Amino acid sequence: MKHFLAVVFGAAVVTLVSAAGTDGAISFEYHRYEELRKALVSVWLQCPTITRIYTIGESFEGRELLVLEMSDNPGTHEPGEPEFKYIANMHGNEAVGRELLIYLAQYLCNQYQQGNETIIDLIHNTRIHLMPSMNPDGFEKAASQPGEIKDWFVGRSNAQGVDLNRNFPDLDRIIYINEREGGANNHLLQNMKKAVDENTKLAPETKAVIHWIMDIPFVLSANLHGGDVVANYPYDETRTGSTHEYSASPDDVMFKSLARAYSMYNPVMSDPHRAPCRKNDDDSSFKDGITNGGAWYSVPGGMQDFNYLSSNCFEITLELSCDKFPNEETLKSYWEQNRNSLVNYIEQVHRGVKGFVRDLQGDPISNATVSVEGIDHDITTAKDGDYWRLLAPGNYKVAASAPGYLTVIKKVAVPYSPATRVDFELESLMERKEEEREELMDWWKMMSETLNF
Ligand SMILES: *[C@@H]1O[C@H](CO)[C@@H](O)[C@H](O)[C@H]1NC(C)=O
Ligand SMILES: *[C@@H]1O[C@H](CO)[C@@H](O)[C@H](O)[C@H]1NC(C)=O
Ligand SMILES: [Zn+2]
Repeated sequence: MKHFLAVVFGAAVVTLVSAAGTDGAISFEYHRYEELRKALVSVWLQCPTITRIYTIGESFEGRELLVLEMSDNPGTHEPGEPEFKYIANMHGNEAVGRELLIYLAQYLCNQYQQGNETIIDLIHNTRIHLMPSMNPDGFEKAASQPGEIKDWFVGRSNAQGVDLNRNFPDLDRIIYINEREGGANNHLLQNMKKAVDENTKLAPETKAVIHWIMDIPFVLSANLHGGDVVANYPYDETRTGSTHEYSASPDDVMFKSLARAYSMYNPVMSDPHRAPCRKNDDDSSFKDGITNGGAWYSVPGGMQDFNYLSSNCFEITLELSCDKFPNEETLKSYWEQNRNSLVNYIEQVHRGVKGFVRDLQGDPISNATVSVEGIDHDITTAKDGDYWRLLAPGNYKVAASAPGYLTVIKKVAVPYSPATRVDFELESLMERKEEEREELMDWWKMMSETLNF
């Protein structure tokens, strides 16, 4: 922590001077670890009222897992305001996403300062977290290779040789059993933080991200990769264990809609005539630039499904470039292909149903369950009783329940966007008993008066 601040302030002095000359313009180049830090710090210096830099932990070799937060109230969860995250470079040699998140931070800061209403609204109504690199050790290894052409695998894993996108607890296996035999359909790691900490199979990067996912009430996320061009949605792991099999989650309709919200704005990804990245690639599961994960190829232990099954967060996986580590000169064109998609996808966090669950005194009920008839996946309320339930357009019955309270069900019409506001007031069973007792007393009083005893 101390080390981090020292370096941040050390870098701050340098960038203050150089930022003036470039006037906040984006420079399309690769950022090594120190340059990444400096780039984030200069966004923070340029837009200090709407940004914050923090770290969620360290890589195996001790590099910080840095996050830039953008919000009108950096550092705090505002009741009712949804949280969003982008996370890139989990495979250290897949470099485009890492750079795009740096450019996105610079773009959002520039546009905010220039008074762009779309961006101002977005930042005022959303808490956005950008993690350009989940695997800084792998990136340094990949980037250190001499020459322009990088090996297809060097730097993919973390410094221990762990593929981080196979290292998450395999919650799909649990959910597939629960589907048949009954059991929880969400928040499968509830009360298991200690077990996570003690699990020696989990890489430090994985543990840090698990804590992050479980501590912040994220609603929506995307995991940025490279090596192909497609928006991939859950489930990633197949039910039968076969290599290719469409593996729908209970929120299949919404996940398709979310994946399309990304691919549609990317002219390359959504091009129906786009040639496969390599001659022999099997892209038969791709349609409109999107694919179900399992239909493409099964991934056990991935981060995407982990988000959905351990928390309220819906995550998709974005493959952004055929080349994992393309020439620096092409970075600008990747930014141009992805800029509108990156902004539009953040806006998806404002869809579905949202609101608060409170008791009759108006006090928040945290960890209440919000369920939707016909969709076997529940959402829970955050600390302030606030919730966000992403839903595709349609008519739904939404229920709020909590132990010790009477369940309330409401009918809700959901448009494409924005989210419909639905608040719930739950009566506690104790209050209900008290009411029933009073009613009984009134009745008894009336009877005794009528009958004159
Ligand atoms: C404002 O931001 C939106 C979203 O990125 C973009 O489409 C639009 O062109 C920007 N407006 C201006 C005037 O730059
Ligand atoms: C949330 O509620 C569930 C069941 O309603 C319970 O099992 C779990 O322990 C609760 N979690 C917390 C953090 O209170
Ligand atoms: Zn990858």
